[in-house]
Amino acid sequence: MGSALRRSQAWFGRQDRDGFIYRSWLKNRGIPDDQFDGRPVIGICNTFSELTPCNAHFRTLAEQVKIGVWESGGFPLEFPVMSLGETLLRPTAMLFRNLVSMDVEESIRGNPIDAVVLLMGCDKTTPALLMGAASCDLPTIGVSGGPMLSGKFRGADIGSGTGVWQMSEAVRAGTLPIAEFREAESCMHRSAGHCMTMGTASTMASMVEALGVGLPGNAAYPAVDARRNLLARLAGRRIVQMVEEDLKLSRILTRGAFENAIRVNAAIGGSTNAVIHLLALAGRVGVPLALADWDALGHDLPCLVDLQPSGRFLMEDFCYAGGLPAVIRELGSVLDRETLTVNGQTLWENNREAPNYNPAVIHPFSSPFKPRAGIAVLSGNLCPRGAVIKPSAATPALLKHRGRAVVFENSDEMHAKVNDEGLDVDETCVLVLKNCGPKGYPGMAEVGNMPLPAKLLRRGITDMVRISDGRMSGTAYGTVVLHVAPEAAAGGPLALVANGDMIELDVESRRLHLDVGEAELARRGRTWQAPGPPQERGYTRLYFDHVLQADTGADLDFLVGASGAAVPKDNH
Ligand code: FES
Repeated sequence: MGSALRRSQAWFGRQDRDGFIYRSWLKNRGIPDDQFDGRPVIGICNTFSELTPCNAHFRTLAEQVKIGVWESGGFPLEFPVMSLGETLLRPTAMLFRNLVSMDVEESIRGNPIDAVVLLMGCDKTTPALLMGAASCDLPTIGVSGGPMLSGKFRGADIGSGTGVWQMSEAVRAGTLPIAEFREAESCMHRSAGHCMTMGTASTMASMVEALGVGLPGNAAYPAVDARRNLLARLAGRRIVQMVEEDLKLSRILTRGAFENAIRVNAAIGGSTNAVIHLLALAGRVGVPLALADWDALGHDLPCLVDLQPSGRFLMEDFCYAGGLPAVIRELGSVLDRETLTVNGQTLWENNREAPNYNPAVIHPFSSPFKPRAGIAVLSGNLCPRGAVIKPSAATPALLKHRGRAVVFENSDEMHAKVNDEGLDVDETCVLVLKNCGPKGYPGMAEVGNMPLPAKLLRRGITDMVRISDGRMSGTAYGTVVLHVAPEAAAGGPLALVANGDMIELDVESRRLHLDVGEAELARRGRTWQAPGPPQERGYTRLYFDHVLQADTGADLDFLVGASGAAVPKDNH
C-alpha cells in the first residue's frame, strides 16, 4: 500500500494547522520528524494492569513489539485499553468483555493507526481485543502473554484453577489443613503469565494461533521464556510488512479458520468458554458460525493433549513437548490446510514439519489421550436454543443420567444452602442453578461448576450432574451442563424447573429433557415474572438491555458486525 493511502497520513501527512497539531504534540517525547514521513504507524493495544496479574508483565512485551516495529521501519504507538482480570473483577470479567471490545474498536478507528498488535493474556482480554479489532479490520497480529511456569507444591505439580478447585474441596471434606491450603498460594503462581492449565486463557491463546492471528508458538511459550519476548519482537517486525501487503484481519478470519479453531479446541481439550468467544468473534466479521458447528466439527475428534483440567500435565510441559504446532501437525488432513496466517503462510505450511518431543504429553492422532473430546451441544425442552457440556471433563458414568432436581434460584441461594446439612439431596440428584446467564447474573459468571454439597463430599462423592445458564472456568471439570439458552432471566424453561422435577441428561443422543408436562410448564410460566435490570443506569443497564444469548456469543446486539476503519472527520 502506498504511504499516501495510509490512514495515518490523514493525520501526519498534512502541511496545515491540523498537521502541526497532530505531529507537534507527539514530538513532546522527542520523536523525530522522520517518523511522520508515511511509514506504517503501528498501534500496540496493551491490556497491562496490576489488577490483571496475568497481564502485569506486558510493559516488557510492548517494548519488544516496539523494537520489532522500529527494526522493520515502522512507527509504534502504544495505547492502553481497559483490562479484565479474571481473579479480581466483580461481578465477573465477562460482563465487561463487550465494553472492552468497544474501547478497542473506537481507540483504533479514532487514531492514526495503520495496523495493530494486540497484547492479551488473561481470559477475557483475548476475545475482547479480537472482537474490537475485527470490527475495524486493519492488519492485526495477536500476541498472547504466555502461561506461568508450572505450579510446584510439596514435590508435585499444581495447576492454576484446577488445583484450587481440588484443594478447596479437600478443605471442605476435612482432608486438607487450612495451613497447607494457604501455603499452596505462593507455590501455585510463581512467575509472570496467565493460568498454566489448559484453561480459558491457554485455550484462547491456542485459538489465536489456530485461527492464524498469532505467529507459530503463540500458545505455549511460558511468559518468562525468552522466546515469548522473541515472539513479540517478531510480531513487531511482521506487522509492518502486513501493512505493505494490506493483509487485513478479515482475510485471516475466514470460515475455514474458525473450523480449524473448533477442531484444534477439541484436540487440546479446550475450554467451553471458547464456544462463546468464537461465536461472538465470527459475528463481528460476518462469518456464519452456529453453536451446532461446535458439535458437528469437533465431537468425533480425539483429545490429543494430556493437560489439566482434563489430564495431568501443564502448559510448560506442553511447550517443551512441541506446543500447538505439534498438535496441528498431528491433526493433519482433519484441518483446512489452506487457511492463511499472519506470517503470510498457510497454517499447514507453518506446522507441517513440527516435531513432537513428548508423546506422553501430546499423543499421536493414532493413539489419542481420549478418543472423543469435542464439546457436545445439547438440545431438548430444557434448552430450546442449546446448551453445552465438555464430555472429556465429565464423569463417563454420569453422561447418561436421570435424576431429581435440586434447584437454586440464584448463586446467593446456592452458596447459602449447599452446605446445609438439612438439604434434601443425594448423589443421584441433579443440581440446577438459575439466573447466572448474561442478563441474570449479570455477565454470565463462571459458577456453573457449583460446589457439591458438603455432606456428599464427606462421603467421597466427587461429581454430580449440574445444570446452569452460567459458564464454567476453563480450569474446572465435572459433569456440568452450561450455557443453557435461553437463560432463566430471559424466560427460558430453566426458569420453570422446580425441586423434585425429574431431569434426563443423555449426552450420546445430545438430549437434555425436563420431564414435566407441557400443561404444568404453561401453568408455571403464567406466574413467572421477568427480573428487572440489576442497575437502573450505566454500562450494566446498557448490557442488560442489549446482551444476546449464549448460543450466539453473548455480544451486544448493536455490536454485531463491523464498521471498518475509515478515517473519521476532523477533530478541530
Ligand atoms: Fe488470568 Fe486465569 S486468572 S488466565
